Amino acid sequence: MAGTELFGAEERKEVNDVLETGMLFRYNHDQQRNGIWKAREFEAEVKKITGAKYAHAVTNGSAAIAIALASAGIGTGDEVIVPPFTFIATIEAVLFVGAIPVFAEIDESLCLSAEGIKNAITPKTKGVCLVHMCGGVAEMDSIMQVVNEHNLILVEDAGQAFGSSYKGTSVGLFGKAGSFSFDFFKIATAGEGGVFITNDEATYKIADAYSDHGHSHVGSKRGMEPHPVLGFNYRISELNAAVGVAQTRKVPHILEVNKKYKKMLMDTLSQTDGISFVKVGDPNGDSSTFLNILLPDTETAQQTVDELNSAGVGGFDYWFKNMYHFINQWDHIKNMDTASKLPAQVLGMPQDYNTMQLPKSQEVIGRLISFSIRCTWTEEDVKTLAKNISACVKKAVPVNA
Ligand SMILES: Cc1ncc(COP(=O)(O)O)c(C=O)c1O
Repeated sequence: MAGTELFGAEERKEVNDVLETGMLFRYNHDQQRNGIWKAREFEAEVKKITGAKYAHAVTNGSAAIAIALASAGIGTGDEVIVPPFTFIATIEAVLFVGAIPVFAEIDESLCLSAEGIKNAITPKTKGVCLVHMCGGVAEMDSIMQVVNEHNLILVEDAGQAFGSSYKGTSVGLFGKAGSFSFDFFKIATAGEGGVFITNDEATYKIADAYSDHGHSHVGSKRGMEPHPVLGFNYRISELNAAVGVAQTRKVPHILEVNKKYKKMLMDTLSQTDGISFVKVGDPNGDSSTFLNILLPDTETAQQTVDELNSAGVGGFDYWFKNMYHFINQWDHIKNMDTASKLPAQVLGMPQDYNTMQLPKSQEVIGRLISFSIRCTWTEEDVKTLAKNISACVKKAVPVNA
C-alpha cells in the first residue's frame, strides 16, 4: 500500500476540478467540461510512466484484464495458460471471456516460468496470461522465447506491478496487451480504477470501443457514433480518474523511496540464516512495493508467521493461506461454483483442478512471506522492522537450517 499513504491536496485539487464543472462523464459535453478531461489526463500520466503508445482507463483492474484478453482476440474455448498464484481476478477474467484457464508452474520469481508455460502447452493453447506478482517482474527473456516459438498470444496482468520494468521496458508491453489495477491497495490508486495499455493501434481501438458499448469515439454526437464491435460498460468516472491523475504523478517518488527501503531491509536480512529472497526478473525494474522473503520450507514459514503474530509485527501476507491469491483455497474454481453456466463448463476442461499437481508452486508459495513497504516509513521504522523480522525468523528456523 503506497499511493493512499500520500493522499492529500493534489488529489483534492484534481477532484475539485471535476466537481466545479459537474461533468463526471469522460466523453463529449465539450462546452460544459471547460477543458477538464481527467480520464484523458490519467491515461497521459500512465503513458509517461510506461512509455506505452496507447493507454485506456477503465473501471478497475479486473475489467482491464478482461478487456486485454478480449481485444487480444482470446475468447470462447481458447486455452489460456495462467498461474496458480495471482489475485483471483486473473482467472475470473479468463473464464468470463469464455476461455479456459490451464494452470502452469511458477518459480522463485513468483510468476509463471518459461518451463512451466512450455509444459502446459497443448494444441488448443491460444495464449498466456502472465501475472507480474508482488510488485516484481517475470523472467521475460526466457518467457518471450517460449511465447514466440509456439506463436502464443501474450497478455500481461500487471495489476500489482505498475512502475515495474524489465531491461527498460515496462510490464504490460511485452505482448499484445497489458493491464494495471489502481484499486485502493496499489502503488497508485484511483479509488477504483484500471488501465489497459498496448503499443498496437488495432488492439487499442478494439479495447477503446469494447469498454464503452462499442462506441468508436469518433465525432461529437455520441448517439451517432459507429460501433465497430459489441462491447460493455467499463467506463471510468471522471472523479476516479482525477484521483488517478494526482496519484500517478506521485509514482516516481514512491518508487524511489520503496527501492531505498527494500534495499535496506534486504541488506540487513541477508545476514539472517534461513532468509533468502524472491528472484525478480530484473531487480532494477522492481517497483519494490513488497519485500518478499523465502524461508527454507513451508513449516518454517508457518512458524515464522506465528512468531510475527505473537510479536505483534503487522503489515505482511502469508499468501499460502490466502483465500483469494493461491489456488489451494480456490474451491469455487475447483468445483466451478458459478452463478450461471460458463463456456468452460460446456466445452469441458483439459485439467482436473482438484487433482492436478503443481509441486513447484506449492513449495515456493509455502515458503513465501511478503511485507508491504510503506513510503511514509522513517529509516528508524525500517531498521526496527528488519530487527523484528530477523528475531522472528531466528526463533522459527531450526538451528542447522
Ligand atoms: C494481479 C492482479 N490482477 C488484477 C487485479 C484486480 O484489480 P482490481 O481490484 O482493480 O479489479 C488485482 C487486484 O488486486 C491484482 O492483484
